[in-house]
Amino acid sequence: VYASAPRLAGLRFAVAGPGRVGASLAHWAAAAGAQPVAVAGRTSGAATADLSARLGAAAVSLAALETGGLDLLLLALPDGCLAGAARSLAGRPQARVVLHCSGSRGADVLAPLAAAGSAVGALHPLKAFPSALPDPREACGVFFALDGDPEAVSLARRLVAGWGGEAAVVPAAARSAYHLAASLAAGGTVTLLAAADELARRLGLPAEVGRGYAALARGALAAAGAAPSPALGLTGPVARGETGLVLAQLEELRGLYPELVPLAVELGLETLRRLERQGPLGPEHQRLRRALVAQAPGRAEPPPQPR
Ligand SMILES: NC(=O)c1ccc[n+]([C@@H]2O[C@H](COP(=O)([O-])OP(=O)(O)OC[C@H]3O[C@@H](n4cnc5c(N)ncnc54)[C@H](OP(=O)(O)O)[C@@H]3O)[C@@H](O)[C@H]2O)c1
Repeated sequence: VYASAPRLAGLRFAVAGPGRVGASLAHWAAAAGAQPVAVAGRTSGAATADLSARLGAAAVSLAALETGGLDLLLLALPDGCLAGAARSLAGRPQARVVLHCSGSRGADVLAPLAAAGSAVGALHPLKAFPSALPDPREACGVFFALDGDPEAVSLARRLVAGWGGEAAVVPAAARSAYHLAASLAAGGTVTLLAAADELARRLGLPAEVGRGYAALARGALAAAGAAPSPALGLTGPVARGETGLVLAQLEELRGLYPELVPLAVELGLETLRRLERQGPLGPEHQRLRRALVAQAPGRAEPPPQPR
């Protein structure tokens, strides 16, 4: 167990769901001085026993969990279980604040707990947890999407400040699309990298080339992420308006990896739309757009977008 640090000192909490996110956030909270009181799992399985032992907290079954008198109950359960778990937990005394960790759901999924007197909210870490990440340095700089009652949001902000993260409210109505955008930014980027790697393989190029694409992507993402807007970091032949080169490369792609052509065309068009938000397209970019629209079946050339 961690030596107490003052940032979350005095905060007593329980965590339900000792999985990847539950274990990580519980360790981060404990490392910042909060006191873990109970760990609850669906069964009294190894994950519950292991996490409770590491944190020095009681192991409890979710069906019997009572957290009345605690400051916080953190629900780190699969999204589809939240409504049922909230209904069941609301039948027993629960903590002053209950937060779930889902990105796509708002605080309203915890309505039964709100009706029973807890302040409810959401605390979504915008981070991939391929496994539990107990090192509290993992939280530094992570963005958390909050939602919920003022008391719940206020406690969530205190947690995030204690972890060295960043937070903002993402209201319930926006969360599904917010989550979709997160999937595009992370999973979508990885899918594109995997497609680039596949193209290199189809060309018979060595594995170093795929690793080179990964390094190139890291650099481009770092530059785009550091810019005031990612669109200021747009790069590549489409962004430069190299129409002849782009069309020749698409033709080559048709022979090598035809199933990727529609995506490459749409990505090109989206790059041009992002450019157009910064200022009117020049003649070369307009020519490129006409050529790409001609290759996108069923699409009409979009009208210029208002900035
Ligand atoms: N993983 C990520 O990258 C990530 C990132 C941000 C937010 N989130 C969110 O964090 C929350 C937890 O996700 P996770 O990735 O930590 O999931 P996880 O690793 O699968 O852990 C889920 C936990 O919930 C328990 N559980 C599963 N089904 C249950 C049920 N029907 N009733 C009660 N408990 C059940 C599991 O226990 P068993 O061992 O018994 O199955 C496990 O302890 C979700 O809302 C997710 O959207 C995840």
